[in-house]
Parts: sequence; C-alpha cells; structure tokens
Amino acid sequence: MSQDQKPTVIITGASSGVGLYAAKAMAKRGWYVIMACRNLEKSQKAAESVGMAADSYKILHLDLASLDSVKKFVQSFRATVRNLDALVCNAAVYLPLLKEPMRSTDGYELSVATNHLGHFLLCNLLLPDMKKSPYPDKRMVILGTVTANPKELGGKIPIPAPPDLGDLKGFEAGFKEPVTMINGKKFKPGKAYKDSKLCNVLTMRELHRRYHESTGITFSSLYPGCVAETPLFRNHYPLFQKIFPLFQKHVTGGYVSQETAGERVADVVTDPEMKQSGVYWSWGNRQKPGRQSFEQEVSNEASDRDKAEKMWNLSAKLVGMS
Ligand SMILES: NC(=O)c1ccc[n+]([C@@H]2O[C@H](COP(=O)([O-])OP(=O)(O)OC[C@H]3O[C@@H](n4cnc5c(N)ncnc54)[C@H](OP(=O)(O)O)[C@@H]3O)[C@@H](O)[C@H]2O)c1
Repeated sequence: MSQDQKPTVIITGASSGVGLYAAKAMAKRGWYVIMACRNLEKSQKAAESVGMAADSYKILHLDLASLDSVKKFVQSFRATVRNLDALVCNAAVYLPLLKEPMRSTDGYELSVATNHLGHFLLCNLLLPDMKKSPYPDKRMVILGTVTANPKELGGKIPIPAPPDLGDLKGFEAGFKEPVTMINGKKFKPGKAYKDSKLCNVLTMRELHRRYHESTGITFSSLYPGCVAETPLFRNHYPLFQKIFPLFQKHVTGGYVSQETAGERVADVVTDPEMKQSGVYWSWGNRQKPGRQSFEQEVSNEASDRDKAEKMWNLSAKLVGMS
C-alpha cells in the first residue's frame, strides 16, 4: 500500500478499449492506476473521456515493441516509489491484413513482439516488485482470447489457420529476418496474433507453476468476451469493422460492451472468488444479462507443460534474460 493508502495496478494498453475501461473500473474500485501506454497525449485524453479522477491515475510511457522501452518503463515505475499490487497485461496489436511482416525495434515479428515478448519481459522484471509488496492479494493477469483456444466454440474457426507453435523452430532460429512465425513457417498475420495470445496463456500457466507457491501471487488469464467495438479491429477491412459488431449483437449473441469487458478485467484482479491461480476465466461465447464467470478449459497446446517450458526458455533468450 502506498502513501495515499490505495493499492496500485499497472495496466498496459490503457489508452483504448478493454484496457481503458479496465483502468476506469479499477479506479472506481479505489485503486491507483498506472496507465502504461505508448501515446501519452492520447492516453490523457482517453482517461479524461471516461471521467477518471485526476488523482486516481498516472500515465507512464511504455512501448512493448521495444525491449529497451520495457526496461525504461520499469525504471520509471520504480521512481514513483509505489508498491506494485497488481499487473494487467492487456495491450495488443492485431494486424490481419498485412502482406509482409512488420518488425519491432529489436527485429522481431511485430504481433508476437508486442503481445507476447514485451509482456514476457515486463512480467519477469516486475515480479520482484510484486513479490516485495505486502498487499495480501496480489494478482498478475494476462489477457487471452477465444480465437487462440480451439477448445472453445469461437476458437474452432481455422481461418487463416489455428494457433500452433509447432516445435518453435522460428523462436529457436532467433525470430529475426527472414523468420516470421514462431513455428518457422510461412507468414500468416492473423495466425501470428493467435500464436501470440497462445503464448500469453502459456506464460500465465508457467508463471503460476514457477512462482505461485513461493510468492503467493495469483496468476490468471481471461477471455473478456467479444468486445467488437474496440479499436483492435482498426487494421481490418472497413466493411468488417461495420458488420462485425452487428453480427455479434444480433447473430451470435456474443457482443460485449467495453464497459462490461473493463469490469470483467477488474473482477479478475479483485474478486475474492477469482483468487485461484493458474486459471483462464471466461463468461462464455453467448452473452446473457448476469452471466457468471467460469473456469474455461484451455487448449491441449496451452496445457502442454513441455511446450510451456520450451516457450519460456526461448522467450527468455529472445528478450535477453538468459
Ligand atoms: N476486442 C475483443 O473482442 C477482444 C477479445 C478477446 C481478447 N481481447 C484482448 O483484449 C486486449 C485489449 O484489446 P482491445 O480490444 O481493447 O484493443 P485496442 O482497443 O486496440 O487496445 C489495444 C491497446 O494496446 C496498445 N498497444 C498496442 N501496441 C502497443 C505497444 N507497442 N506498446 C504499448 N501499447 C500498445 C494500444 O495503444 P494505442 O492506443 O497507442 O494504439 C491500445 O491501448 C488485447 O490483449 C486483446 O487480445 C480483445
């Protein structure tokens, strides 16, 4: 607990969508929110637009597509001299229409670099900070998604391809030009997103296995539902962006508002009934008022212990931890 007696949460990608509404929900629940964002001006306007009180948050610069920026962010967080009681790894890019891969500052394929490698380093660097905090119910939460989980209805759509890390040949080869995919095969941008989200869940499970008992930290993931109106889909066809929310509202019944998604993230961080570690939470694919959360089974690949370990060791190498 810090000087103002509020517990502190860091939320990455809090400048829009799920992250912004999670920041709003956490501030409403009495937490101090560190909004970890790459565009400070945009984030300031976003916080004001959802009515967050000026003394409930601070915006710090973080570009997850740069390992150096991740390290600098950790330094600037430490300079706030606040304890760290919760971390929400939420930021992501989804670039389904790319013809050629884009690269992070460090030369890695951009979706995996941003969504997975940046967060992987961040979690590892902040683990000692969380460990140090005396807060009794510390939680580290990483956003997952349905399309990366073939055990869920919404994850059975094999377009452009199901997630799969193969035997991680691409990671083994260093993941730089000309490598574009974790499995070392041909570039498929939509699959790169799914693979990165699969890595997010594998990371959460491996964090749980390695550190839950020794630190008491709860590690969890969630699928917040289909939040069809967030800017996540900004790189999709304009027609898709128009039709997708309507389709989810009126055909699949899967539509979830940004406000509800933010509350769901806040529940995973604070609800005493969601304290179990190593869990992937879901509210299902079809939304009904009052829908309760439940523990969603993860895919065979996401529960593959050997793969998790291999993914962890190779990621550690790629981010310079070993
Ligand atoms: N929308 C859905 O239906 C849905 C469903 C399941 C899971 N999710 C998950 O929910 C999370 C949030 O998605 P969203 O729908 O809220 O998307 P969004 O509105 O596009 O938000 C993504 C956030 O990530 C930030 N970001 C992107 N690249 C970054 C980088 N290099 N460094 C730091 N921040 C970066 C963005 O910052 P800028 O504002 O600067 O671009 C933005 O704040 C993601 O993990 C996504 O996989 C979403």
